Amino acid sequence: MTTIGIIGAGEIGTHVAIATIKLGYNVVIANSRGPETLKSLVAQLGSSARAATAAEAAEAGDFAVVAVALKRENTMPVNELAGKIVLDTNNYMIWRDGHYPEIDSGAKTVYEMRQEQLPTSKVVQAFTHIQAPRILTAARPAGDPRRIAVPISSNFPDAIALVAELLDRIGFDTVNNSPLSEAWRSAPGQPAWVALNHQTKPELIANLAQARRLT
Ligand SMILES: NC(=O)c1ccc[n+]([C@@H]2O[C@H](COP(=O)([O-])OP(=O)(O)OC[C@H]3O[C@@H](n4cnc5c(N)ncnc54)[C@H](OP(=O)(O)O)[C@@H]3O)[C@@H](O)[C@H]2O)c1
Repeated sequence: MTTIGIIGAGEIGTHVAIATIKLGYNVVIANSRGPETLKSLVAQLGSSARAATAAEAAEAGDFAVVAVALKRENTMPVNELAGKIVLDTNNYMIWRDGHYPEIDSGAKTVYEMRQEQLPTSKVVQAFTHIQAPRILTAARPAGDPRRIAVPISSNFPDAIALVAELLDRIGFDTVNNSPLSEAWRSAPGQPAWVALNHQTKPELIANLAQARRLT
């Protein structure tokens, strides 16, 4: 797999692009306003990056990253993402997104909602528990005692395997908190969220185990 389609060219999409280009990937990156608005970003990212529409980025990627908050109205290119592993960086932020009663009640996680919007893709929660610039500054080689861990979650083991390897190569440990229905354990307000950016793998495992339903 050599090309990543990145939908969302804001803080997290840009930092995922930088980190994966460093690993040797090509990236095709999109925002909502069109590729012509991404000229200066692509110039900064270098020759391994090009700008495209979201549908083109989805189509070009061997796998994709959706670095866009979930919305009720599904604006993601469902057909172009079909059959692909899709990394979802979204966090459920009530101050930004408003309330989703099905999430608040515990009936669904925000990643199950993304999976419902992308029924023919393999959604994985990824890059949610690291502030964007720290994708670059907090990366450490395997075995470094300061290496931090991030949760990943999916209904698809092959998607977990791909993302665990990708994050390991970037410089992070992972804890598999699958399936997507378990992702409430890492949601805002839970211990794994409070310790964002700082938890080692044993600490993240303990924090996920200590999660309690908030409703
Ligand atoms: N920032 C962080 O440190 C961080 C860390 C972990 C997770 N996250 C999560 O990652 C997601 C993105 O956060 P962010 O901080 O990167 O947001 P951001 O800086 O506001 O960027 C959002 C990007 O999404 C694009 N976008 C919006 N709707 C789109 C659509 N329909 N099609 C294509 N692109 C679209 C925007 O394009 P336009 O500008 O053209 O509208 C923009 O490039 C959020 O869910 C956030 O909770 C963020």
